[in-house]
Amino acid sequence: MSKLGVGVLASGRGTNFESLARVLKRQAIDAEIRVLIVNLPDALALRRAKSLEIPSLVINHKDYKSRASFEQRLIQELTTHDVRLVCLAGFMRILSPVFVKHYPNQIMNIHPSLLPAFTGLQGMQVHRAVIESGTKVTGCTVHFVTEDVDAGPIIVQRAIPVRESDTPESLAVRVLLEEHQAYPEAVRLFCENRLKVEGRRVQVLG
Ligand code: GAR
Repeated sequence: MSKLGVGVLASGRGTNFESLARVLKRQAIDAEIRVLIVNLPDALALRRAKSLEIPSLVINHKDYKSRASFEQRLIQELTTHDVRLVCLAGFMRILSPVFVKHYPNQIMNIHPSLLPAFTGLQGMQVHRAVIESGTKVTGCTVHFVTEDVDAGPIIVQRAIPVRESDTPESLAVRVLLEEHQAYPEAVRLFCENRLKVEGRRVQVLG
């Protein structure tokens, strides 16, 4: 049987893309990344794709008159590569309900906090907010993408303590290590058909 086609959307550095690609190649997971799409032409993720020999391309949102036409182009490319699971990995664009409805419970996102805490922020903003809040625990969340930002059903979370000596930067480094474990785990569960979405909850079967 052929492997499940995964498409990754990213905007920047691409470490989650790379770790996912490496784990999928190494482990017995029935999925492969068919394409990386970035919306920013200088995204470092592109270089990673090249060295991993994964097809990649830029679809720059600024080249499109509307969100709808940008997203139509994304869908076109994902369809060409027979993508059945879309993984957002540091993709800094909000997807419209039209895109989300096209892939019901087939889009995942990774967020660098324990949702539902610290929603609506991105990257270092999240870690800064965590430190300022005085919370003692943080982590990362992989969730299905719905029309509401950072609010879709939660698939995998990994928690770490916030240390008194932590800065946003030191926290980002430790959370990222957890992200690199959490995303492949979520994709593996998806591939094994073990994720049952019931309203806001995801039941992990087996
Ligand atoms: C990751 O920390 C990811 O959780 C975060 O951006 C970073 C991308 O890193 N995503 C968000 O903040 C989404 N709201 P990467 O490009 O090295 O994978």
